[in-house]
Amino acid sequence: VMAEKVELIAKCIRTFPDFPTKGIPFKDICPILKDPKALAAVTDLFEEHVRRTYPQVDLLVGLDARGFLFGPLLAQRLGVGFAPIRKKGKLPGPTLSVAYSLEYAKAEAEMQEDAVSAGQKVLIIDDLLATGGTLYAACELIKQQKAEVLGCLVVVELKYLSGSEKLQSTPVFSLIQY
Ligand code: PRP
Ligand code: MG
Repeated sequence: VMAEKVELIAKCIRTFPDFPTKGIPFKDICPILKDPKALAAVTDLFEEHVRRTYPQVDLLVGLDARGFLFGPLLAQRLGVGFAPIRKKGKLPGPTLSVAYSLEYAKAEAEMQEDAVSAGQKVLIIDDLLATGGTLYAACELIKQQKAEVLGCLVVVELKYLSGSEKLQSTPVFSLIQY
């Protein structure tokens, strides 16, 4: 059943060459959202993994923008809260921020100071791991709040960019690898 779900998701990922810039083979996850069975398969596989590996999880943190597509669905299934990390300038009130560079751009990630509390056990979710810059910045933000990062969840991992090495000891669980 697990392999069938992975296959269903894999069929919904398509590659656009040279997007957003030349040389980047862009993995488009939009067809997953368009297929309710594939989207449910993503949530199912993440839920199974989290229940087995991280039963102690307190909070799911999702990354702007495509982490928002999968995060709240999973958080509801798990019965935990969801908190967003956004690109700079989008969140009101006191925030913490970390600058990072990614495969084809530079950016700054921000989180509200009251989104996570000290000692909470956090999982981070995004659609895709490329160089790891984005997830690394997210880990830094959560550690700044003195919370604990249990691990990261992504739909797609671009293994050839070695992003998981950048995340060092933080484990990454991916559904599809290239
Ligand atoms: C993409 C993707 C990941 C990130 C991965 O997001 O959704 O968040 O890049 O790259 P990295 O591992 O090299 O950091 P992007 O910032 O392009 O924007 P979006 O999610 O807002 O579309
Ligand atoms: Mg993103």
